[in-house]
Amino acid sequence: MTIPLNVIILAAGKGTRMKSELPKVLHPLAGKPLLAHVLTAADRLQPARICVVYGHGGEALPQAIARPELAWAKQEPQLGTGHAVQQAIPHLDPDAICLILYGDVPLTRPETLHEMVRIAREGAIALLTVRLDNPHGYGRIVRDLEGRVERIVEQKDACPQELALNEVNTGILCLPAAKLTGWLGRLSNHNAQGEYYLTDVIGMAAAEGERVIPCHPSAEWEVLGVNSRQQLAELERQYQANLAQGLMTQGVTLIDPARIDVRGNLECGRDVLIDINCVFEGRVILRDSARVGANCVIKDADIGPDVEIKPFCHIESATVGARAIVGPYARLRPGTELAEEVHVGNFVELKNAQVGFNSKINHLSYVGDATVGRKVNVGAGTITCNYDGANKHRTVIEDEAFIGSDTQLVAPVTVGRGATLGAGTTLTRDAPPDQLTLSRAKQLTIPGWQRPVKKKKEA
Ligand code: UD1
Ligand code: CA
Repeated sequence: MTIPLNVIILAAGKGTRMKSELPKVLHPLAGKPLLAHVLTAADRLQPARICVVYGHGGEALPQAIARPELAWAKQEPQLGTGHAVQQAIPHLDPDAICLILYGDVPLTRPETLHEMVRIAREGAIALLTVRLDNPHGYGRIVRDLEGRVERIVEQKDACPQELALNEVNTGILCLPAAKLTGWLGRLSNHNAQGEYYLTDVIGMAAAEGERVIPCHPSAEWEVLGVNSRQQLAELERQYQANLAQGLMTQGVTLIDPARIDVRGNLECGRDVLIDINCVFEGRVILRDSARVGANCVIKDADIGPDVEIKPFCHIESATVGARAIVGPYARLRPGTELAEEVHVGNFVELKNAQVGFNSKINHLSYVGDATVGRKVNVGAGTITCNYDGANKHRTVIEDEAFIGSDTQLVAPVTVGRGATLGAGTTLTRDAPPDQLTLSRAKQLTIPGWQRPVKKKKEA
């Protein structure tokens, strides 16, 4: 039987340098809270329990992360990382091994953590360390003459020789819960900061002859924490760069991998192309050979095969059928469903509208709460008047209808199959199929009419 894994996430710190009302670990990276990234990494290890230590910011944290299976341990006041871990102990399985993560270190790869868990399951203590060009501020790893990890000394407690060491403690470690509990009980706060240091556990373990195995991340960004808005922005760029690399490896063409932002899940088929400055939010699917032009924002959408989204489109909660052409400058609002080969052009807004095969709405229109059939042509400047100030009403346009330019469709109203509406019509009653319907004041010409001329000013 494999030894169960418990994860402790430390998130009680204040985050002073963020200068924010929002608790630090709730600040979003790629559209979701820092803490949610750490939880995702933890989930990948299939732990039996996860306990989050919180404190600063009060109940905002458990409220924002609505996951009933999480254990929450309140640390108040915050007397150091060792004290923080102590608050989680009552929530742990004493037979488990325990992985300690920081809620403000969002990009650690599950592979790195997996290796640490493996080491701890074999009875050793896994400690994640990294060599830094500038180790200032971090705890330093002190090794003995044989190169074994002996203890960790914090920046503020270190002597000059220790300060010269550049291997630092990332704070992430994995060890048996029972031993951890024993060592935590012996911590003291007789140090430069008057805190209970979790790091002192390593010295105790080594003194008792336990094996402390240093592990290393594949890259520095895996262990970087967020303490300021600058660091948050840097990690956001790193996250996006990693994601862009992954997309290209899958076969997606990114015109510039430095200019794409994915804040959610982007799933791409074969030979998808994404031009610069596009933002994808929520769950977006781009099917085979879909192309997205520059400067599009696409959220919770399914974009069909061979679709062309031209530049500057905004698409939310919509589906776009195969070979459709959308934009430039089109807005598809929630509930829009475009069938295959639909064309939606510039300055067209669609909302809760289902548009049938090969219909065209190419210029300057608003079509909301509407059902549009197959092969319909909606002329420039057509408006569905769907809202009477109190209620929304539907417009139905049947197959092969032709809507002249600058038409208002006052819903509820139906345009019959094959009907034609003359330009400028204000349709208030249903238009019968296959006939021309129009509402228009008669055109007249006034013979002999003269343009007014300016009166001459008197001298
Ligand atoms: C800690 C380590 C240091 C390491 C560094 C890496 C200790 C004593 N030192 O230092 O060796 O190089 O992290 O960044 O562990 N936290 C609580 N409650 C507390 C204090 C902290 O939950 O009472 C949480 C914070 O929210 C944060 C994490 O623990 O997520 C680390 O706290 P921080 O104050 O940043 O630790 P450092 O002093 O930087
Ligand atoms: Ca820190």
